[in-house]
Amino acid sequence: MLAGMTEAGGNRTAVAGLAGRRVVLGVTGGIAAYKAADLVRRLREAGAAVRVVMTAGAERFVTPLTFQALSGEPVRRELFDAAAEAAMGHIELARWAEAVLVAPATADFMARLAAGLADDLLSTLCLATEAPLLLAPAMNRAMWAHPATQANRRTLAARGVRFAGPAEGAQACGETGPGRMADPEVIVAALARLLAPGPLAGLAVVVTAGPTREPLDPVRYVGNRSSGRMGYALAEAAAEAGARVTLVSGPVALDPPPGVRTVRVETALEMREATLEAARGADLLFAAAAVADYRPARPRGEKLRKSAERLRVELVRNPDIVREVAALPLDKRPFVVGFAAETVAAGEALRAAAEAKRRAKGMDMIAANRVGPGLGFEAEDNALEVLWAGGGASLARAPKRVLARRLVALAAERLHATRAAQGA
Ligand code: C5P
Repeated sequence: MLAGMTEAGGNRTAVAGLAGRRVVLGVTGGIAAYKAADLVRRLREAGAAVRVVMTAGAERFVTPLTFQALSGEPVRRELFDAAAEAAMGHIELARWAEAVLVAPATADFMARLAAGLADDLLSTLCLATEAPLLLAPAMNRAMWAHPATQANRRTLAARGVRFAGPAEGAQACGETGPGRMADPEVIVAALARLLAPGPLAGLAVVVTAGPTREPLDPVRYVGNRSSGRMGYALAEAAAEAGARVTLVSGPVALDPPPGVRTVRVETALEMREATLEAARGADLLFAAAAVADYRPARPRGEKLRKSAERLRVELVRNPDIVREVAALPLDKRPFVVGFAAETVAAGEALRAAAEAKRRAKGMDMIAANRVGPGLGFEAEDNALEVLWAGGGASLARAPKRVLARRLVALAAERLHATRAAQGA
């Protein structure tokens, strides 16, 4: 998350979620370490229990006594400190934490974390903990922009590490640009969001995404234009909402979202197998893949040579994956959300076509979009008409990631309502 992205209105309620939460604050050696003192004060005011771990570099900027006074707890500095290990060993501290916040996080610390080093207490703790990790980087703007730092950022983000900032502005070194530590209130709000139980907390979600490729011969295939963006955005949004996510993806040019288990497939038959395996016993399925309806009946073992003027290829129907998942026995069946890409005009005609599809396939919810210029398959934006038994909602045109969050929230609401009605 970037510093500027915090919704100001959401801060107060978000911060309320910190009461009673257990936070380890790691402080590394940068000039912004002095701002970490304010961070401790704010976290304590929000009701969080804070234990501070300092690196050797951090002690050059702020004394441990400052953090001890503010946190009301002894500050941990050494990995091999017999007294501290007797009181609360580093593994215990790693287990105690509900979140680990490192602020400021230096370029050096990000590099050590990306490399998986465990050569001091803080890096060891970050490796040992299963709690979510939030970094607030702070460094000179050129150090932040350096390809090595950016590669480390991507590596860490791909592992599910979250970022607050850095912010842009005047730096202690006299330069101006991105690299200053985000303001403490921004970091506290990001931490509160990280700790808030999402609407899908503890649930298993499966998402299918992208196209399938149906081989004609070893080098050619029948395919479609699906970019996979909507499915990837849904997988990311579901993970953010607290779910354990399995993404079954056809061939696309996208990086897997952080913290999501990704299963890569090529054909509809492979997608069917991977999806059924993951969906059995899962809580929610988003079938966003554009599965090829037909596949060549007899793909050639050798590359097809051109000879005759006409070539006939016989196609056979592929199984309908979403229909099969929806037909699973009730105790194994997830709440099923399907998609319908229609070229019919928006409005009533679109809704009628989508509702017919929803019923025919036994889906609980359907998200219909009109494919046309600037919308749908390869586009950045989308707009959705969402329908379920007895209700519906229109999600206005927005970037796919924004829309994905709205659709996840809506699906979570309907899933919980359905379960409540079933008495589950
Ligand atoms: O029938 P149509 O292809 O329009 O249905 C679209 C919905 O069905 C999408 O949710 C898509 O992922 C799913 N689907 C499927 N297996 C197929 C075809 C479509 O899961 N073979």
